[in-house]
Amino acid sequence: MPTHFFPPSRFTAATAPGGLPLLGHVPAFIRRPFDFVAGLPAHGDLVRLRLGPLDAYVACHPELVRRLLTEDRTYDKGGIVLDKAREVFGDGLATCPAAAHRRQRRMLQPAFHRDRLPGYAAMMAEEIAGTTAPWHDGDTIDVPAAMYRLTTAVTARCLFAAHERAGSLPVHASMDVITRGVGRRVMMPLPGADRIPTPGNRRFRRAQQDLKEITTRLIADYRAAGTDHRDLLSVLLSAEDEDGQGLTDAEIHDQVVTFLLAGMETTAATLSWAWTLLAANPAVRDRLHAELDTVLDGRPARHQDLPALPLTARIVSETLRLYPPVWILSRTVTADTRLGGHHLPAGATILFSPYLLHRRADVFPCPDRFDPDRWLTTARPAPGTYAPFGLGARRCIGDTFGTTEAVLAIATIAARWTITPTPGHRVRPTRSSSLSPRPFTATLARR
Ligand code: HEM
Repeated sequence: MPTHFFPPSRFTAATAPGGLPLLGHVPAFIRRPFDFVAGLPAHGDLVRLRLGPLDAYVACHPELVRRLLTEDRTYDKGGIVLDKAREVFGDGLATCPAAAHRRQRRMLQPAFHRDRLPGYAAMMAEEIAGTTAPWHDGDTIDVPAAMYRLTTAVTARCLFAAHERAGSLPVHASMDVITRGVGRRVMMPLPGADRIPTPGNRRFRRAQQDLKEITTRLIADYRAAGTDHRDLLSVLLSAEDEDGQGLTDAEIHDQVVTFLLAGMETTAATLSWAWTLLAANPAVRDRLHAELDTVLDGRPARHQDLPALPLTARIVSETLRLYPPVWILSRTVTADTRLGGHHLPAGATILFSPYLLHRRADVFPCPDRFDPDRWLTTARPAPGTYAPFGLGARRCIGDTFGTTEAVLAIATIAARWTITPTPGHRVRPTRSSSLSPRPFTATLARR
């Protein structure tokens, strides 16, 4: 792993080839989004795209991505990807502008404090056990659906622990519709398409209303009880800014939706990809089983086991490199500026893609190979080279939560089960703003 990735003295800029009249690069982007984006560094460090009537720039060089993400006042949340997401997340932590961000981040940070993690991990362990309890030797499961059930149960439980088995809350059904809807909307760069009253758009609006009703009821219940349930909602309710002001119910609602949306599909996708990668790399899987047999001896993984599971952790890091669930994001330029020596006008959309960065052969030799041991070095990757959780002020607040959940789930499941995808079926990603696998089945074998 490179510890230093020296910026060149001059960054190159170009327009991506192959743009069509009117539509520009939209067809290429929609048809083969991952290959299209991963191919952009071949044209320049900063590449301009035409997306219908809009121009967008893609920062392809790690150093430009680092600048983009650390100068969050010049490059604020916004642009085509973020604007669509904001319709759903509201002004929650992930989508609010820089001006509102510092206050929110300071108020919410305690929810993810190191001291709270063992408590969340205990809830995670229970939900992992609950999700896998009905499994039998020889069963065939839809892997992404099962992993999504698991992470929904975990996130809902850690948000609303007071509702003993959060899995029974109707948030699951609404979140399913919303998550898919957001992904599709973000990938539809043509303006106005999501306002057409199609059945899909109507289902989406209804799911948003249902979720609003559920969270409104839960917030009222929690406020009435006034107890700290050691869960995320309790922290949101007790959060105060420097002037002693708490969050309003509407702000709490936006944060709840943000945590649900930001936490569920990302971790579910990580787990689903990990099973495909382990099945395709039996030598790594054998070593994983050896680690788990030594440390766990068949029992579920707990928070205190984490330091003894280094290979499991490397498998998660390498899965996030090959398949970063948040694979493309945008920012908006707030004032005329220069990036890498090139002019960017105020209002321009600028994109960056962890997927693109992680597939750069000059940073990760043999980038398409699944090799968890590339993380054996103790050196940290240079900023901007590995960014599954982003970078700078807007870096993921749930990074440790998400990786803890992924490591516990892989360890607990792989200690007892071998998951083998049904042969003859290539697992492909959905065309969405999140890099998730399409439905695929696998057979469960009891170890
Ligand atoms: C493997 C799992 C996860 C991945 C890959 C992931 C990825 C990311 C990325 C890339 C960002 C930065 C977005 C940007 O720069 O525009 C982000 C932000 C965020 N994530 Fe995560 N995330 C994961 C899990 C979670 C979990 C479990 C939660 C909460 C329970 C969460 C909550 C958030 C929030 C609230 C933000 C906005 C942070 C801010 O702007 O201050 N994420 N995530």
